[in-house]
Order: sequence, then structure tokens, then C-alpha cells
Amino acid sequence: MSPLDETSARRPRVFSGIQPSGTLHLGNYLGAVKNWVAMQETHECVYCAVDLHAITVRQVRAELRRNTIDLVNLFLASGVDPERSIVFVQSHVPAHSELMWILNTITYMGELRRMTQFKDKTAGAEGESIAVGLFDYPVLMAADILLYRADAVPVGEDQKQHVELTRDLAERFNNAFGKAFVVPEPIIKEGGARVMSLDDPAKKMSKSAGSESSYIAVMDAPDVVRRKIRRAVTDSGSEVRGGPDKPSLTNLLDIYAALSGDAIADIEARYSGKGYADFKSDLAEVIVDALAPIQARIRELEADKSYTLGVLKTGAERAEAIAQRTLAKVRERVGLVPRP
Ligand code: TRP
Repeated sequence: MSPLDETSARRPRVFSGIQPSGTLHLGNYLGAVKNWVAMQETHECVYCAVDLHAITVRQVRAELRRNTIDLVNLFLASGVDPERSIVFVQSHVPAHSELMWILNTITYMGELRRMTQFKDKTAGAEGESIAVGLFDYPVLMAADILLYRADAVPVGEDQKQHVELTRDLAERFNNAFGKAFVVPEPIIKEGGARVMSLDDPAKKMSKSAGSESSYIAVMDAPDVVRRKIRRAVTDSGSEVRGGPDKPSLTNLLDIYAALSGDAIADIEARYSGKGYADFKSDLAEVIVDALAPIQARIRELEADKSYTLGVLKTGAERAEAIAQRTLAKVRERVGLVPRP
């Protein structure tokens, strides 16, 4: 029996999503996808390319399509197993938008106005021309999570507030209308989960912040990886060690440790007495070796597009089955007449 069959003994379920909004990089892989792969051992997993979230910022049509498939290919190439986990595209399951509407009716303007991501994204913008979708973004995220009755939601620290809102909305609905939702817990991974920019260790690695050399793209060729690591900023001094006074080295050590599985202390010991250059050239090889099998698998998936589309077809069907069950209960609780 499939682990996702509703009648089998349930493992705790997780739901998580990533926006298909640009070039994929090492931060996406180490910060999220690698952890998603590991969670398949202990959880029932539902993983989603959240394209409806991506369009809260203007996208170029052809790029959005491409980015969505690329993101799904990264999931698959990294080891997300579509036999065990549900992998799908958010817009393929209309229940997300429908539940969002119902949740909108119990969400307060004030709580959305307090979301720090909304405040950051609209800082300096004229209130009159801020898109409603940007404001409502956290409610769509709550719908994503609640539809699948997820017990846990692995997210970065920056999304914790949105999961808190999701919990509040689940409890508010359950109290007002009768229980329909599981109240989910955030899972925030500490330590090496947060990959920082290669040219400014105070910023998160991202494709939008700063220059091309600030991030390692998943598809970067070996020589590009080597060049970017060689140019990555370092801290004053010459010792290869982490610590609050060494933010750049801490980031590079975190990347090394996360990809190699070695403990930071062991890596530091290995490079004691050696300089940054030795460490960096080895780090570049660690990254090149870690990316090689993922890149190879992505190329295979790109060569045969039908495999990914098949995964998404099955994924949407399985997601929809769960989502519809939740939505039916919600509609009943609210008092909407069932469609005859
Ligand atoms: N808002 C999340 C981010 O930008 C993406 C997301 C959308 C998500 N829906 C979700 C994450 C549901 C976890 C669960 O990172």
C-alpha cells in the first residue's frame, strides 16, 4: 500500500513549497531541497512548485514556465522520489485558490499588514499601487499547508511568521466552524541551512541580490564554480576557521560541511596551518562533485520532458484527492450547499 494512501497508518505529513522565480542555486538546494529529500525517510511528503506565489511579482511568461519545470527537475534530480512523495505544481490544483478565498473571510487586514515580508517587499512603495496578491500571499500559503492537513512545514527562518499565521487561521477556523484543519508546526533547520552570498555574508544567497558571482547556480560548469569560489570574499586574517568574527569563512565552511558531511571542527583541523587558497580550491571540488550527479540527472530529464510531465500529472491527481477531501469538509462546516 502506498505510504500516501489515506487508510494506511500515517507518518507525520509535511508540506513545503518553493517559488519558481529564477535561476536555481546552491542556497535552494542546501537550504531546502536536500532536507526535503532526507525527510522522505520519516514523513509523508508533499512538495510543491508554488507558481501562484511567484506571480505576486511580475514574471515573464516563457521564463515562468521554464523556471517551474526546472524547479521540479531539481526536486527529482536531487532525490525527491515521486513514488513516495507527492510532487506537483500549485496552479494545477484549484483547491488552493478556493480555500484561500474562504480563509480570506477570517483573516484580518491588521495581521497581514504586520507580516515582515510584506513590509519588506513594499517598503517605499505607494500604498495605492501595491498588488492585493502580495498582501494576500500568506493566506495562499496557509491554504497550501492546511489543504494537506500537514503536521509540519519545513521552511527558512524568513517564513516562520507565515507558518504562525497559518496556525492562527487554522485555530480560528476550527473554533468558529468546527474542526477541519490540523494545526501545523514549523520546522526551522538551524546551522548550515542558510547559505549566504559569496560576496556579502550578511545577505542570503539569492539570484536577485547582487552580482552573478554572489551565488553558485545549480547548473554552473566546474570552471565557473572554481572561479566563483576563488573570488568569494574572505575575512581578515588567514586562518581557516568559523566564528562570529569570520562570517565569510563560516559560510564557506558551512557549505563545505553540508555537502561533504564532515564536521566543521574536522575541516578546520584539516586546514590548520594552511591558507585560504588551499581551502577554497578544495571547497570548489567538493561543490563540483556534489553538483555533478544532479546536473547529469537534470540533463537527462531535460532530454525526455515526458517523464517530468508524467510525474506532475500523477502528482496533481494525488494532491487533488487529498485537497478535495479537506475542501469538502471546509465547505460543509461553513454552510455552503454541496453541488448536487
Ligand atoms: N512563501 C514560501 C517562500 O517564499 C514558499 C511557500 C509557498 C511555502 N507556500 C508554502 C513554503 C507552503 C512552505 C509551505 O519560501
